[in-house]
Amino acid sequence: MDERVVSSEADQQDAVFETSLRPQTLSQYIGQDKVKANLEVFIRAARMRGETLDHVLLYGPPGLGKTTLAAIIANEMGVKLRTTSGPAIERPGDLAAILTALEPGDVLFIDEIHRLPRAIEEVLYPAMEDFCLDIVIGKGPEARSIRLDLPPFTLVGATTKAGSISAPLRDRFGVLARLEYYREEQLKEIVERTAEILNTDISGQAATEIARRSRGTPRIANRLLRRVRDFAQVRGNGDIDLPMAVEALELLQVDRLGLDHIDHKLLTGIIEKFRGGPVGLDTIAATIGEESDTIEDVYEPYLLQIGFLQRTPRGRVVTDLVYRHFHMEVPKK
Ligand SMILES: Nc1ncnc2c1ncn2[C@@H]1O[C@H](COP(=O)(O)OP(=O)(O)OP(=O)(O)O)[C@@H](O)[C@H]1O
Ligand SMILES: [Mg+2]
Repeated sequence: MDERVVSSEADQQDAVFETSLRPQTLSQYIGQDKVKANLEVFIRAARMRGETLDHVLLYGPPGLGKTTLAAIIANEMGVKLRTTSGPAIERPGDLAAILTALEPGDVLFIDEIHRLPRAIEEVLYPAMEDFCLDIVIGKGPEARSIRLDLPPFTLVGATTKAGSISAPLRDRFGVLARLEYYREEQLKEIVERTAEILNTDISGQAATEIARRSRGTPRIANRLLRRVRDFAQVRGNGDIDLPMAVEALELLQVDRLGLDHIDHKLLTGIIEKFRGGPVGLDTIAATIGEESDTIEDVYEPYLLQIGFLQRTPRGRVVTDLVYRHFHMEVPKK
Protein backbone atom coordinates (compact mmCIF):
# COMPACT_ATOMS: atom_id res chain seq x y z
CA MET A 1 0.00 0.00 0.00
CA ASP A 2 2.89 2.36 0.80
CA GLU A 3 4.08 2.12 -2.77
CA ARG A 4 0.87 3.51 -4.21
CA VAL A 5 1.68 6.71 -6.04
CA VAL A 6 -1.93 7.78 -5.43
CA SER A 7 -1.86 7.11 -1.69
CA SER A 8 -3.20 10.11 0.21
CA GLU A 9 -0.93 9.40 3.19
CA ALA A 10 2.40 11.20 3.33
CA ASP A 11 5.49 9.16 2.51
CA GLN A 12 9.00 10.09 3.55
CA GLN A 13 9.75 12.02 0.38
CA ASP A 14 6.53 13.99 0.70
CA ALA A 15 7.51 15.01 4.19
CA VAL A 16 10.76 16.54 2.91
CA PHE A 17 9.06 18.47 0.10
CA GLU A 18 5.90 19.48 1.89
CA THR A 19 7.62 21.82 4.31
CA SER A 20 8.77 24.01 1.45
CA LEU A 21 5.47 23.75 -0.43
CA ARG A 22 3.17 24.74 2.41
CA PRO A 23 1.34 28.02 1.92
CA GLN A 24 1.99 30.44 4.79
CA THR A 25 -1.07 32.69 4.70
CA LEU A 26 -4.81 32.28 4.18
CA SER A 27 -4.58 34.08 0.84
CA GLN A 28 -2.00 31.58 -0.44
CA TYR A 29 -4.18 28.69 0.70
CA ILE A 30 -6.09 27.61 -2.40
CA GLY A 31 -9.71 26.42 -2.25
CA GLN A 32 -11.75 25.46 0.86
CA ASP A 33 -13.47 28.82 0.44
CA LYS A 34 -16.11 28.33 3.15
CA VAL A 35 -13.60 27.30 5.79
CA LYS A 36 -11.27 30.10 4.77
CA ALA A 37 -13.99 32.76 4.84
CA ASN A 38 -15.09 31.70 8.32
CA LEU A 39 -11.58 31.56 9.71
CA GLU A 40 -10.80 34.94 8.25
CA VAL A 41 -13.68 36.52 10.15
CA PHE A 42 -12.92 34.73 13.41
CA ILE A 43 -9.23 35.58 13.21
CA ARG A 44 -9.87 39.22 12.43
CA ALA A 45 -12.44 39.54 15.21
CA ALA A 46 -10.14 37.90 17.75
CA ARG A 47 -7.28 40.18 16.75
CA MET A 48 -9.48 43.28 16.98
CA ARG A 49 -10.57 42.34 20.48
CA GLY A 50 -7.07 41.33 21.44
CA GLU A 51 -8.32 37.88 22.41
CA THR A 52 -7.22 34.38 21.57
CA LEU A 53 -8.99 32.56 18.78
CA ASP A 54 -11.61 29.97 19.73
CA HIS A 55 -10.46 26.34 19.64
CA VAL A 56 -10.62 24.93 16.11
CA LEU A 57 -11.22 21.33 15.03
CA LEU A 58 -10.11 20.52 11.48
CA TYR A 59 -11.34 17.28 10.00
CA GLY A 60 -11.22 15.58 6.63
CA PRO A 61 -9.34 12.94 4.65
CA PRO A 62 -5.52 12.80 4.61
CA GLY A 63 -3.56 15.25 2.47
CA LEU A 64 -6.22 17.98 2.19
CA GLY A 65 -4.32 20.60 4.17
CA LYS A 66 -5.11 20.28 7.88
CA THR A 67 -1.54 20.62 9.13
CA THR A 68 -0.98 23.43 6.66
CA LEU A 69 -4.05 25.29 7.91
CA ALA A 70 -3.00 24.92 11.56
CA ALA A 71 0.29 26.66 10.79
CA ILE A 72 -1.53 29.36 8.83
CA ILE A 73 -3.86 30.03 11.76
CA ALA A 74 -0.89 30.64 14.08
CA ASN A 75 0.78 32.77 11.45
CA GLU A 76 -2.32 34.90 10.83
CA MET A 77 -2.84 35.34 14.57
CA GLY A 78 0.78 36.41 14.87
CA VAL A 79 1.53 33.79 17.53
CA LYS A 80 3.74 30.76 17.89
CA LEU A 81 2.71 27.26 16.86
CA ARG A 82 3.41 24.36 19.16
CA THR A 83 2.89 20.94 17.54
CA THR A 84 2.19 17.54 19.04
CA SER A 85 -0.02 14.57 18.27
CA GLY A 86 -2.54 12.34 20.00
CA PRO A 87 -0.35 9.22 20.16
CA ALA A 88 2.66 11.24 21.38
CA ILE A 89 0.90 12.22 24.60
CA GLU A 90 0.90 9.13 26.77
CA ARG A 91 0.53 10.45 30.31
CA PRO A 92 -1.33 13.41 31.81
CA GLY A 93 2.09 14.76 32.79
CA ASP A 94 3.12 14.94 29.11
CA LEU A 95 0.18 17.18 28.36
CA ALA A 96 0.74 19.27 31.50
CA ALA A 97 4.33 19.89 30.45
CA ILE A 98 3.24 21.09 27.03
CA LEU A 99 0.44 23.29 28.34
CA THR A 100 2.45 25.00 31.04
CA ALA A 101 5.19 25.85 28.54
CA LEU A 102 2.78 27.77 26.28
CA GLU A 103 2.94 31.54 26.02
CA PRO A 104 -0.24 33.64 26.05
CA GLY A 105 -2.10 33.35 22.75
CA ASP A 106 -0.06 30.43 21.37
CA VAL A 107 -1.62 27.87 19.08
CA LEU A 108 -1.28 24.29 20.29
CA PHE A 109 -1.74 21.91 17.37
CA ILE A 110 -2.70 18.35 18.27
CA ASP A 111 -2.59 16.17 15.16
CA GLU A 112 -4.52 12.88 15.14
CA ILE A 113 -6.46 14.14 18.12
CA HIS A 114 -8.82 11.14 17.92
CA ARG A 115 -5.96 9.00 19.22
CA LEU A 116 -5.64 10.94 22.48
CA PRO A 117 -6.08 8.53 25.41
CA ARG A 118 -9.30 9.07 27.35
CA ALA A 119 -7.50 9.95 30.61
CA ILE A 120 -5.65 12.74 28.79
CA GLU A 121 -8.83 14.06 27.24
CA GLU A 122 -10.12 14.67 30.72
CA VAL A 123 -7.12 16.80 31.59
CA LEU A 124 -7.74 18.75 28.41
CA TYR A 125 -11.36 19.72 29.20
CA PRO A 126 -10.66 22.28 31.97
CA ALA A 127 -7.64 23.48 30.01
CA MET A 128 -9.84 24.23 27.02
CA GLU A 129 -12.72 25.69 28.99
CA ASP A 130 -11.12 27.66 31.80
CA PHE A 131 -7.43 27.64 30.94
CA CYS A 132 -6.51 25.69 34.03
CA LEU A 133 -5.12 22.32 34.97
CA ASP A 134 -6.15 20.08 37.84
CA ILE A 135 -3.20 17.99 38.82
CA VAL A 136 -2.93 15.37 41.49
CA ILE A 137 0.15 15.45 43.65
CA GLY A 138 1.21 12.46 45.73
CA LYS A 139 -0.35 9.03 45.99
CA GLY A 140 -2.94 7.24 48.13
CA PRO A 141 -4.44 9.06 51.15
CA GLU A 142 -1.77 11.77 50.89
CA ALA A 143 -2.85 12.70 47.38
CA ARG A 144 -4.28 16.14 46.82
CA SER A 145 -5.37 18.02 43.79
CA ILE A 146 -4.12 21.48 42.95
CA ARG A 147 -5.33 23.86 40.29
CA LEU A 148 -2.81 25.53 38.02
CA ASP A 149 -3.62 28.54 35.85
CA LEU A 150 -2.57 28.36 32.22
CA PRO A 151 -2.01 31.14 29.73
CA PRO A 152 -4.94 31.52 27.34
CA PHE A 153 -4.25 29.52 24.17
CA THR A 154 -5.95 28.20 21.06
CA LEU A 155 -6.18 24.47 20.57
CA VAL A 156 -6.24 23.39 16.94
CA GLY A 157 -7.07 19.71 16.64
CA ALA A 158 -6.84 17.73 13.42
CA THR A 159 -8.34 14.36 12.60
CA THR A 160 -9.14 12.17 9.64
CA LYS A 161 -11.78 10.41 11.75
CA ALA A 162 -14.26 12.90 13.07
CA GLY A 163 -16.49 9.99 14.08
CA SER A 164 -13.89 8.72 16.55
CA ILE A 165 -13.83 11.94 18.57
CA SER A 166 -15.79 11.78 21.80
CA ALA A 167 -18.77 14.10 22.01
CA PRO A 168 -17.50 15.97 25.11
CA LEU A 169 -14.23 16.77 23.35
CA ARG A 170 -15.92 17.80 20.12
CA ASP A 171 -18.31 20.08 21.99
CA ARG A 172 -15.44 22.08 23.44
CA PHE A 173 -14.32 23.34 20.05
CA GLY A 174 -15.85 26.67 19.04
CA VAL A 175 -15.03 26.23 15.37
CA LEU A 176 -15.58 22.98 13.48
CA ALA A 177 -14.10 23.04 9.99
CA ARG A 178 -14.57 20.21 7.55
CA LEU A 179 -12.15 20.12 4.65
CA GLU A 180 -13.54 18.88 1.35
CA TYR A 181 -11.90 17.18 -1.62
CA TYR A 182 -10.60 19.83 -4.05
CA ARG A 183 -12.02 20.56 -7.47
CA GLU A 184 -9.95 20.21 -10.60
CA GLU A 185 -9.46 23.98 -11.10
CA GLN A 186 -8.19 24.37 -7.56
CA LEU A 187 -5.79 21.45 -7.90
CA LYS A 188 -4.56 22.95 -11.13
CA GLU A 189 -3.76 26.17 -9.27
CA ILE A 190 -1.95 24.15 -6.61
CA VAL A 191 0.07 22.29 -9.26
CA GLU A 192 1.02 25.58 -10.92
CA ARG A 193 2.00 27.14 -7.63
CA THR A 194 4.16 24.15 -6.70
CA ALA A 195 5.77 24.09 -10.17
CA GLU A 196 6.73 27.71 -9.68
CA ILE A 197 8.33 26.96 -6.31
CA LEU A 198 10.20 24.02 -7.88
CA ASN A 199 11.29 26.22 -10.80
CA THR A 200 9.59 23.98 -13.33
CA ASP A 201 7.91 25.14 -16.49
CA ILE A 202 4.48 23.54 -16.94
CA SER A 203 1.75 24.20 -19.50
CA GLY A 204 -1.81 24.89 -18.40
CA GLN A 205 -3.04 21.71 -20.06
CA ALA A 206 -0.38 19.61 -18.36
CA ALA A 207 -1.28 21.11 -14.98
CA THR A 208 -4.94 20.28 -15.61
CA GLU A 209 -4.03 16.72 -16.53
CA ILE A 210 -2.14 16.21 -13.27
CA ALA A 211 -4.96 17.88 -11.34
CA ARG A 212 -7.55 15.56 -12.88
CA ARG A 213 -5.63 12.49 -11.74
CA SER A 214 -4.96 13.71 -8.20
CA ARG A 215 -8.07 12.35 -6.51
CA GLY A 216 -9.10 15.74 -5.16
CA THR A 217 -6.02 15.78 -2.92
CA PRO A 218 -3.23 18.41 -2.92
CA ARG A 219 -0.69 15.97 -1.49
CA ILE A 220 -1.24 13.61 -4.45
CA ALA A 221 -1.16 16.52 -6.92
CA ASN A 222 2.22 17.62 -5.58
CA ARG A 223 3.57 14.08 -5.62
CA LEU A 224 2.43 13.41 -9.19
CA LEU A 225 3.95 16.70 -10.27
CA ARG A 226 7.29 15.69 -8.76
CA ARG A 227 7.23 12.32 -10.54
CA VAL A 228 6.25 13.90 -13.87
CA ARG A 229 8.99 16.47 -13.40
CA ASP A 230 11.60 13.69 -12.94
CA PHE A 231 10.33 12.08 -16.10
CA ALA A 232 10.48 15.35 -18.04
CA GLN A 233 14.01 15.93 -16.86
CA VAL A 234 15.21 12.53 -18.10
CA ARG A 235 13.18 12.36 -21.31
CA GLY A 236 13.23 16.01 -22.27
CA ASN A 237 14.62 19.34 -21.11
CA GLY A 238 12.62 19.42 -17.87
CA ASP A 239 9.66 21.41 -19.21
CA ILE A 240 6.28 19.75 -18.81
CA ASP A 241 3.79 19.90 -21.66
CA LEU A 242 0.65 17.80 -22.11
CA PRO A 243 2.16 14.84 -24.02
CA MET A 244 5.01 14.64 -21.52
CA ALA A 245 2.57 14.68 -18.57
CA VAL A 246 0.30 12.06 -20.13
CA GLU A 247 3.19 9.76 -20.95
CA ALA A 248 4.61 10.01 -17.43
CA LEU A 249 1.22 9.45 -15.80
CA GLU A 250 0.55 6.41 -17.97
CA LEU A 251 3.92 5.03 -16.95
CA LEU A 252 2.96 5.59 -13.31
CA GLN A 253 -0.23 3.67 -14.04
CA VAL A 254 -2.50 6.40 -12.82
CA ASP A 255 -5.53 6.51 -15.08
CA ARG A 256 -7.60 9.49 -16.27
CA LEU A 257 -9.50 9.66 -12.98
CA GLY A 258 -6.54 8.98 -10.73
CA LEU A 259 -7.36 5.30 -10.28
CA ASP A 260 -4.51 2.81 -10.02
CA HIS A 261 -4.18 -0.98 -10.20
CA ILE A 262 -5.63 -1.47 -6.72
CA ASP A 263 -8.78 0.48 -7.56
CA HIS A 264 -9.04 -1.49 -10.78
CA LYS A 265 -8.65 -4.79 -8.94
CA LEU A 266 -11.31 -3.81 -6.43
CA LEU A 267 -13.84 -2.61 -9.01
CA THR A 268 -13.35 -5.35 -11.59
CA GLY A 269 -13.37 -7.92 -8.76
CA ILE A 270 -16.86 -6.81 -7.74
CA ILE A 271 -18.01 -6.84 -11.36
CA GLU A 272 -16.53 -10.18 -12.35
CA LYS A 273 -17.13 -12.18 -9.18
CA PHE A 274 -20.31 -10.58 -7.84
CA ARG A 275 -21.97 -9.17 -10.95
CA GLY A 276 -21.46 -5.67 -9.68
CA GLY A 277 -22.83 -6.34 -6.17
CA PRO A 278 -24.28 -5.84 -3.68
CA VAL A 279 -21.51 -7.64 -1.87
CA GLY A 280 -20.38 -7.36 1.76
CA LEU A 281 -17.14 -5.65 2.68
CA ASP A 282 -15.66 -8.77 4.27
CA THR A 283 -16.39 -10.84 1.18
CA ILE A 284 -14.65 -8.27 -1.03
CA ALA A 285 -11.72 -8.22 1.36
CA ALA A 286 -11.33 -11.99 1.23
CA THR A 287 -11.62 -12.03 -2.55
CA ILE A 288 -8.95 -9.45 -3.29
CA GLY A 289 -6.74 -10.33 -0.34
CA GLU A 290 -6.89 -7.06 1.60
CA GLU A 291 -8.03 -6.16 5.12
CA SER A 292 -11.60 -4.88 5.41
CA ASP A 293 -10.38 -1.86 7.38
CA THR A 294 -7.90 -0.93 4.66
CA ILE A 295 -10.58 -1.13 2.03
CA GLU A 296 -12.95 0.98 4.08
CA ASP A 297 -10.44 3.64 5.21
CA VAL A 298 -8.03 3.81 2.29
CA TYR A 299 -9.50 2.51 -0.96
CA GLU A 300 -13.18 3.25 -0.69
CA PRO A 301 -13.48 6.94 0.22
CA TYR A 302 -12.40 8.25 -3.17
CA LEU A 303 -14.46 5.67 -5.07
CA LEU A 304 -17.51 6.67 -3.05
CA GLN A 305 -16.68 10.33 -3.59
CA ILE A 306 -16.63 10.03 -7.40
CA GLY A 307 -19.77 7.90 -7.39
CA PHE A 308 -18.10 4.67 -8.54
CA LEU A 309 -19.17 2.75 -5.47
CA GLN A 310 -22.29 2.91 -3.38
CA ARG A 311 -22.87 1.63 0.11
CA THR A 312 -26.22 -0.08 0.51
CA PRO A 313 -27.65 -2.00 3.45
CA ARG A 314 -26.92 -5.20 1.53
CA GLY A 315 -23.33 -4.32 0.68
CA ARG A 316 -21.24 -2.48 -1.89
CA VAL A 317 -22.50 -1.88 -5.40
CA VAL A 318 -20.57 -0.58 -8.40
CA THR A 319 -22.42 2.05 -10.44
CA ASP A 320 -22.86 2.37 -14.20
CA LEU A 321 -20.00 4.88 -14.23
CA VAL A 322 -17.57 2.05 -13.56
CA TYR A 323 -18.74 -0.01 -16.57
CA ARG A 324 -18.39 3.05 -18.78
CA HIS A 325 -14.96 3.86 -17.37
CA PHE A 326 -13.74 0.37 -18.26
CA HIS A 327 -15.59 0.38 -21.61
CA MET A 328 -17.76 -2.51 -20.48
CA GLU A 329 -21.37 -3.02 -21.37
CA VAL A 330 -23.68 -1.69 -18.66
CA PRO A 331 -25.81 -4.64 -17.45
CA LYS A 332 -29.57 -4.36 -17.80
CA LYS A 333 -31.46 -4.11 -14.55
N1 LIG B 1 -5.16 24.65 0.14
C1 LIG B 1 -3.91 24.34 -0.24
N2 LIG B 1 -3.24 25.12 -1.10
C2 LIG B 1 -2.00 24.78 -1.50
N3 LIG B 1 -1.35 23.67 -1.10
C3 LIG B 1 -1.96 22.87 -0.24
C4 LIG B 1 -3.26 23.15 0.23
N4 LIG B 1 -3.63 22.18 1.08
C5 LIG B 1 -2.61 21.32 1.13
N5 LIG B 1 -1.61 21.71 0.34
C6 LIG B 1 -0.35 20.98 0.10
O1 LIG B 1 -0.58 19.60 0.37
C7 LIG B 1 0.38 19.10 1.29
C8 LIG B 1 -0.33 18.23 2.30
O2 LIG B 1 -1.09 19.04 3.18
P1 LIG B 1 -1.16 18.76 4.76
O3 LIG B 1 0.08 18.10 5.23
O4 LIG B 1 -1.54 20.04 5.41
O5 LIG B 1 -2.37 17.74 4.80
P2 LIG B 1 -3.07 17.08 6.07
O6 LIG B 1 -4.54 17.29 5.90
O7 LIG B 1 -2.44 17.59 7.31
O8 LIG B 1 -2.75 15.54 5.87
P3 LIG B 1 -2.68 14.37 7.01
O9 LIG B 1 -4.09 13.99 7.31
O10 LIG B 1 -1.95 13.24 6.33
O11 LIG B 1 -1.94 14.93 8.17
C9 LIG B 1 1.06 20.33 1.90
O12 LIG B 1 2.44 20.19 1.89
C10 LIG B 1 0.73 21.49 1.01
O13 LIG B 1 1.84 21.80 0.21
MG1 LIG C 1 -1.30 16.58 8.74
